[in-house]
Amino acid sequence: MKIKPLHPLFSGEVTDVDLSVELTSEQVADIRGAMDKYAVLVFRGQSLDDAEQRRFSEYFGPLELSRKRFRKGYTPRLHLNMSDISNLDQDGKPLERGDGRLLGAYANRLWHTDSSFKKIPARYSILVAHVLPKNGGGNTEFADMRAAYDDLDEATQARIADYICTHSIMNSRAKLGFTDFDEGEQKGLPPVPQVLVRTHPGSGRKGLYLASHAGSIEGMPVPEGRMILMDLMEHATQPKYVYSHEWQPGDVVMWDNRCTMHRGRWHDPDDIRDLRRTTVSDEIPTVPDREIDETVREAV
Ligand code: OGA
Ligand code: MN
Repeated sequence: MKIKPLHPLFSGEVTDVDLSVELTSEQVADIRGAMDKYAVLVFRGQSLDDAEQRRFSEYFGPLELSRKRFRKGYTPRLHLNMSDISNLDQDGKPLERGDGRLLGAYANRLWHTDSSFKKIPARYSILVAHVLPKNGGGNTEFADMRAAYDDLDEATQARIADYICTHSIMNSRAKLGFTDFDEGEQKGLPPVPQVLVRTHPGSGRKGLYLASHAGSIEGMPVPEGRMILMDLMEHATQPKYVYSHEWQPGDVVMWDNRCTMHRGRWHDPDDIRDLRRTTVSDEIPTVPDREIDETVREAV
């Protein structure tokens, strides 16, 4: 396995490994070690099928179940352990513009980290490219939250050290002007607390745990907390912290949600873009188990 850095701060391209076959425990440990350092790994030309993608992903922990299971009357196109990052319906036909099922695709264009709206959020995400927009566009950008944290001045680092944010998928959807939630989704995904500054267990580095899903900071009026989050978001997504991935069919990109954010970029909505994600769950919540403050819940 060889790694070539893709950016001065993070992200590396891995060669000389075939992810479609069983891996040895040494190979898995090498990939985990590389993730601790690079936070985003790119493997070109792998062309994994869905079962191979799931097998590769499961080396790193349990897989999340797709959120689509909360939606009534919806038949997913893919296995329940896979997130459909495409603009296709269950028969593989392009969805009409304005179809509610495209909402997820638009929400993915906001800077975020996967599943921070779950009490136990995502550890790694693994995204495989099948079909890419024929007229270009549709890059995925990643931002290094460790470097963004390191560059904050000491007074800011001290001020935000113990902040706890409230994350909800409703916050990111509301940013897109979407408030019409399916009852099943509302019940299945209540707001959750997440620390703002996380220490990564693999690297020992601190990072900002930010996402479009974060809507308030506990113990603070909502607008005050939201302004702090917006300022941090602006800081953390400056071009110097960002690697932009230009997809090729067969690419596998793996990222660490604990210390990066990402977002998809525009492509012609009439072009098919078919990417498929597996998501490795973390094991413990970032905030020890407790009841969430009801005033915060209402404010979200
Ligand atoms: C994701 C995601 C962005 C993209 O798969 O989690 O946010 O570019 N994808 O599709
Ligand atoms: Mn995502």
